[in-house]
Amino acid sequence: MSTVYVLNGPNLNRLGTREPGIYGTTTFEQLSEQCIARAGELGMDAVVRQTNDEAELIGWLHEAADAKAPVILNPAAFTHYSYALRDACSMLTAPLIEVHLSNPLAREEFRHTSVVSGVATGTIAGFGVASYLLALQALSPVE
Ligand code: DQA
Repeated sequence: MSTVYVLNGPNLNRLGTREPGIYGTTTFEQLSEQCIARAGELGMDAVVRQTNDEAELIGWLHEAADAKAPVILNPAAFTHYSYALRDACSMLTAPLIEVHLSNPLAREEFRHTSVVSGVATGTIAGFGVASYLLALQALSPVE
């Protein structure tokens, strides 16, 4: 079974209670369970992780690069300014899908810039948890 990394940046561990009007009420644990279940249906093994630490997230991207594995990445606020994260994303050879629960382009101006999009295979934003599930489908070997 092929492995897909589902990596999440800062504050996403607070899902469920964090600004529910924007991010919904699904907790990170529930999001993780849904990703693992959907990946399984699609014939993939999802490794779902979250960190508030930029260095740790970059380390996980190095791991995915070494494994030549696809990545679904919600860089959270790092989206908007982390060139170090972008450089790590550039090392990936398998597809990279940038995901967001909200639609950053419909929000504050500082969210309109993504330094990651330019090195991603594609971006899915604005569909809540479904952004992740759609990304898994896009990576699926069978659909
Ligand atoms: C987010 C959007 C970002 O602008 C924000 O900093 C986040 C979450 C999203 O999933 O909608 O933390 O990536």
